[in-house]
Amino acid sequence: MITFETIAETSNYVTQLKKDEKSVGFVPTMGALHEGHISLVKRSVFENDFTVVSIFVNPIQFNNPEDLAKYPTDLKRDQQMLEEAGVGLVFTPSAKEMYPEPSTKVYDLGFVTTVMEGKFRPGHFNGVAVVVHKLFDIVKPDKAYFGEKDFQQLLVIKELVQRENIPVEIVPCAISRENDGLARSSRNARLTPMMRSAAPFIYKQLLKAKEMASNSTAKEVEEYVIKAFNEHPLLELEYFTIADGVTLNPIKGKIPDNSYGFIAVFAGDIRLIDNIRLI
Ligand code: PAJ
Repeated sequence: MITFETIAETSNYVTQLKKDEKSVGFVPTMGALHEGHISLVKRSVFENDFTVVSIFVNPIQFNNPEDLAKYPTDLKRDQQMLEEAGVGLVFTPSAKEMYPEPSTKVYDLGFVTTVMEGKFRPGHFNGVAVVVHKLFDIVKPDKAYFGEKDFQQLLVIKELVQRENIPVEIVPCAISRENDGLARSSRNARLTPMMRSAAPFIYKQLLKAKEMASNSTAKEVEEYVIKAFNEHPLLELEYFTIADGVTLNPIKGKIPDNSYGFIAVFAGDIRLIDNIRLI
């Protein structure tokens, strides 16, 4: 496995792979890798001749400076995990390499960027779109893998690819969870022991929502979940929304097929997100 820090080396390397008619799979990440990331990587390794992983903590997608400053990093460990998973190339650019000049690009990616994470983290999805577009230009992957853990991000990337005519297939990958149901996240490592033991409550509420979904209205399910969090001594709900899994249009009445429950919760100062398909 090779590691490149520059765009030129990475781009030259994949150009040669393309000449050799190798298919390229790509998994963009911000590092501090866990089993969730590795599940995407393994799928890419299985489905492509060659897999590229990027590790870049993208400053322009953080709307909270403290979240950026405290984002965990462990490059040595990440490299070891990626090598074991069969990755060919790791791209680890610096912020200067990716943004020699501050980015001024503003995308219009429609309704999916305006709700939930788009509403509570202004600028976040534009930052994601900017970096993912740049990474796609550099890596030129045939397929790129994104986790349903960040379901809204996945829809934003699909929108970006469609609107910008980027020749890549976006492959959605299922959420990987800890044994107690907590969705794996690099931020879980920053939870205090007390918050870590409280956090599985989030998935429990999503399961409860799924159980209620077939014979309740969306409004009733939302009210149930909001009340459950109001009564919880530690976790603070930011939003719980039931919405369509393609358009993210909010649902209030009877819950149709392909509806999801989306949730964001503060466990102390750590913000956790999760989702579940309801029907
Ligand atoms: P990061 O949070 O490192 O996640 C990288 C990829 O791993 C994303 O597609 C994310 O959805 C997926 N992932 C994370 N935890 C997962 C889990 N528990 N189960 C399944 N997939 C999981 O998402 C980003 O980085 C950044 O926004 C990025 C796309 C790299 C752009 O900077």
